[in-house]
Amino acid sequence: MSDMAIEARGLVKRYGDLVAVDGVDLQVEAGAIYAMLGPNGAGKTTTIGMLTTLVRPTSGIARVAGFDVLAQAEQVRSRIGVTFQDIVLDQDLTGRQVLDIHGRLYRQGGDLRRKRIVDLVDLVQLGDAIDRIVKTYSGGMKRRLELARGLMTDPAVLFLDEPTQGLDPQNREGIWSYIRDLNRQSGLTVLLTTHYMEEAEALAHQVGIVDRGKLVAQGTPSGLVTQLGADVIRVRGHGDPAHFVAEIKGMSFVERVESDSDSGNVSVYVDSGSRRLVEIVGASGGNGYRVEDVTIARPSLADAFLHHTGRALRD
Ligand SMILES: Nc1ncnc2c1ncn2[C@@H]1O[C@H](COP(=O)(O)OP(=O)(O)OP(=O)(O)O)[C@@H](O)[C@H]1O
Ligand SMILES: [Mg+2]
Repeated sequence: MSDMAIEARGLVKRYGDLVAVDGVDLQVEAGAIYAMLGPNGAGKTTTIGMLTTLVRPTSGIARVAGFDVLAQAEQVRSRIGVTFQDIVLDQDLTGRQVLDIHGRLYRQGGDLRRKRIVDLVDLVQLGDAIDRIVKTYSGGMKRRLELARGLMTDPAVLFLDEPTQGLDPQNREGIWSYIRDLNRQSGLTVLLTTHYMEEAEALAHQVGIVDRGKLVAQGTPSGLVTQLGADVIRVRGHGDPAHFVAEIKGMSFVERVESDSDSGNVSVYVDSGSRRLVEIVGASGGNGYRVEDVTIARPSLADAFLHHTGRALRD
């Protein structure tokens, strides 16, 4: 047995001629938060569908919590929690009833259900609203209730399909902090999908960039970004930068220098902006060039996405 909470090899899903998921290999360690980041139609929901036993793979294999999604679907289902991209809540029930019914479906006893509900209402901060009917909830409250429902059975692996879609930044950060706390406190493994860059950056230990059914790159958020290469130190200054440029071009760690003679701005591409900043600024002493302002820019996950897919990811 491996200690992978999720393992998939060569996962494919075809719908007629359309290849929704095109040979996905996935390994998610127990206790990790993994984010599948990709645009609309990339195959994220279909992948979650296969991993949660709801969609039958055309080919390939997947194991979740140690069990095969096809041959041992029952065992998989009893160990996972899922929240769906589209909110599926009975609007005429109270939040408490939604959670209670879910617990009953999984044959939890009354005492256990009551205890879980108390804990989960506390976690997602629904407070007294838990006894109001869902119809009266805001979008953020519905998402929080769905998250609580996904956790009702104390899963080993939680699947969240676009957990903050349509939420404002404040509600989004609330959901992020619940997910982070859960992961830290209970070692819950989380696989989430998102098309929000910041969500992947804020939450995930590992990010998989998906595009057109394929996992085109995987790594830590910072690893995906640093593999793009250089930092850039942007220097804004007064005077003629010619001497400055000549001097820094001679430094071994400087990969490239671009200067704009009109504005006096200089962009210095280096191996590590934070490490080289002092030397770059120091080089500007004398020579008729005065530094006004310096910023270090890093490539972002947005650049990584662009790099691997050839297009920008728009929210
Ligand atoms: N049941 C289905 N029948 C036919 N085509 C489907 C079905 N489900 C998904 N698809 C197609 O498979 C592709 C991948 O869809 P999927 O929903 O997995 O993408 P996604 O990454 O979740 O997108 P989004 O960000 O919009 O949620 C899309 O082209 C979609 O139209
Ligand atoms: Mg989707």
